[in-house]
Amino acid sequence: MGERLDKYLSSQGFGTRKEVGKLIRSGLVAVDGVPQRDAAAKLDPQKAVVTVEGRPVSYQRHLYIMMNKPAGVLSATEDRRAKTVLDLLPEELRRRGLFPAGRLDKDTTGLLLITDDGDLAHRMLSPKKHVYKLYRAQLDGPVTQEDIQVFSRGAQWGEEHYAPAKLWIDHDPNIAFVEIHEGKFHQVKRMFEARGKNVLTLKRLKIGGLYLDNTLQEGDCRLLDEEETRQIFH
Ligand code: URA
Repeated sequence: MGERLDKYLSSQGFGTRKEVGKLIRSGLVAVDGVPQRDAAAKLDPQKAVVTVEGRPVSYQRHLYIMMNKPAGVLSATEDRRAKTVLDLLPEELRRRGLFPAGRLDKDTTGLLLITDDGDLAHRMLSPKKHVYKLYRAQLDGPVTQEDIQVFSRGAQWGEEHYAPAKLWIDHDPNIAFVEIHEGKFHQVKRMFEARGKNVLTLKRLKIGGLYLDNTLQEGDCRLLDEEETRQIFH
């Protein structure tokens, strides 16, 4: 069967179905060396050599999307009432099978990866893989040396034990930077709660070696390239 040419190009980041339709009709797209002006033409994405204005499209089987998550939306694929991060995706990045790799709380902002690659998500989230996630937390009190020591040994909240975490401050003692490699429920908030502090705002800045692109406004997203995807594991 194969995939429609317009759907294929749209999934590879060449624009909305409407935009790629125009591109195709203008004769700038070729499949296996032959110009193809029919947007509905079918192709095998694994085998076809597609060129746009003479440049070959290197087919990406999976999509990796970086989002700067705003507060007030759920890290879920669907919800009856609340808006989810998938609702924020622009039309050209919507695809079946996309999901947020790891959850941020509704009020947490910052770096969120949305993908259709289950293996990568598993590797990124498994505590055994030690992919560190960096957060910036605004607190209702200053970070103390004792907080830093407790975090480095592993904090405890009720029955819950957390793995050792790095905690530091820059110049404002009420703004903490925390690096953890587990993803337990409300983890950062609870680690601070265990120290008698409340997290007022929380933002994720980094996953592995991949930083949030600080040119992305809250609610915006963009595709990652291969090198950036690799940085997650560096
Ligand atoms: N820790 C939290 O408490 N909340 C998040 O959203 C992420 C980490």
